[in-house]
Amino acid sequence: MFYRLTIIFILILSYFNTEAKTDKYRCMWRDDPATTMVVAWNQIGKTEATLYLDTLKHNGDYTMFCHQFKADKKHWFKRMNHHFVRLNNLKPNTVYYFILKDNDSQSEVFSFKTLPDTKDSQLSIIAGGDSRNHRKYRQHANSLVSKLRPDFVMFGGDMTGSDGSTPWKNWLDDWQLTIGKDGRITPIVAARGNHERSNKVIEKIFDSPHKDIYYALNIADGLLRIYTLNSLIAANGNQGKWLEEDLKNHDYPIWKMAQYHYPIRPHTAKKSESYNQQKYWAPLFYKYGMDIAVECDAHVVKTTYPIRPSNEAESDEGFIRDDENGTVFLGEGCWGAPLRRNNDNKKWTRASGSFNQIKWLFINKESIEVRTVKTHNVNEVSQLNDLSKFSMPENIDIWKPESGEVITIVQSQNPIGYQPNSSLKGELAAISLASNHKNGAMKVGIFFLILFIIMMYPAYAVMFKDKLNFSFINNKNN
Ligand SMILES: [Fe+2]
Repeated sequence: MFYRLTIIFILILSYFNTEAKTDKYRCMWRDDPATTMVVAWNQIGKTEATLYLDTLKHNGDYTMFCHQFKADKKHWFKRMNHHFVRLNNLKPNTVYYFILKDNDSQSEVFSFKTLPDTKDSQLSIIAGGDSRNHRKYRQHANSLVSKLRPDFVMFGGDMTGSDGSTPWKNWLDDWQLTIGKDGRITPIVAARGNHERSNKVIEKIFDSPHKDIYYALNIADGLLRIYTLNSLIAANGNQGKWLEEDLKNHDYPIWKMAQYHYPIRPHTAKKSESYNQQKYWAPLFYKYGMDIAVECDAHVVKTTYPIRPSNEAESDEGFIRDDENGTVFLGEGCWGAPLRRNNDNKKWTRASGSFNQIKWLFINKESIEVRTVKTHNVNEVSQLNDLSKFSMPENIDIWKPESGEVITIVQSQNPIGYQPNSSLKGELAAISLASNHKNGAMKVGIFFLILFIIMMYPAYAVMFKDKLNFSFINNKNN
């Protein structure tokens, strides 16, 4: 009997010794995505894990890994022991492997890939939000992230329904489905939704770079600048000032995208309008050439034509279609939250629907392609890899509304909104050129007029000799 108990005890002990004492892994950015990365996990074991990092996998032998890091930041939040290693001075466009090892356990080998640092790159991005309530549908979308292998995910808030500890634990467990079978972790750029009861939820779970959850990331040396805005605080005030200053000071990115939670003009009648965002953000989007705004919260599907703020006769709810200089709005959630009816289209709506979906974007310096991907059949979708990530996997269900399945935004078609340094500069350059032409023509005209007068002077002198003499004589007489 004693012998049997001893064997069982040893088996149990050995089981727990091999079980990872870390979980809920994720990656984020606080700074340049080409050279930095934040790696986060939940520390279960009593001893603190060390992160072993290298650009080679070394068959999972952590002793061969070149670099070791301890957590730069750790806190107890939502009944989890969050640890964060903030990595700097990484090489751009490079796969890094890491292992978390503590006294009790060792994780599998994970990897992440830094973004490129040149505008000549191509990016694959998944954007969406609202994953609360239905874990099954949330898991579908998460698994699709793993299969499509994007460079990163933009997530527009409302991760959980109640913002409680258990829902957050579940959410982070579900997020592990975004990790590739080879251990690849896709970074998340997180915004706050109304179901996050405070800014600190996003800050503490995703190590956000700004405590008020508005921040910008410069990507691929100005190929793209992403603005994460906070719908749950004042749209003007400090956030509005920061947004305008940042847009003013960063006119070099080729493309600009924003993400935030509340849609300015939701496409379901169940949701109210976001007048302050319309008042304070939409004019800045137009003035500074925001190419795309990703919105959430309403749990419907929508894409719009490029639009700008307007109260003109043909406008609708404060916007009018402007294919040259407008912003394309995408949305509105559907990462697992309860779906609503899409019953509030506008004149400038390109298409709307009601199904679980994510937005999938390909970006290079010439164009942006946007697709809406239905997430229901993820198990039938084939796996992409780093080399094939810009191709369509087998069985992927791309939404095909009448307006077309791909929205293509071509840079050259939009001198204000679609070119670097172009907010008004395109127009100003054109005005300047026309003005120069006018000035030049005027100068040439004056030159020939003076030349004509000089050449004709002898003829005039003869023709008006008498009059000239008369005048002279009269003057003299006077
Ligand atoms: Fe919401």
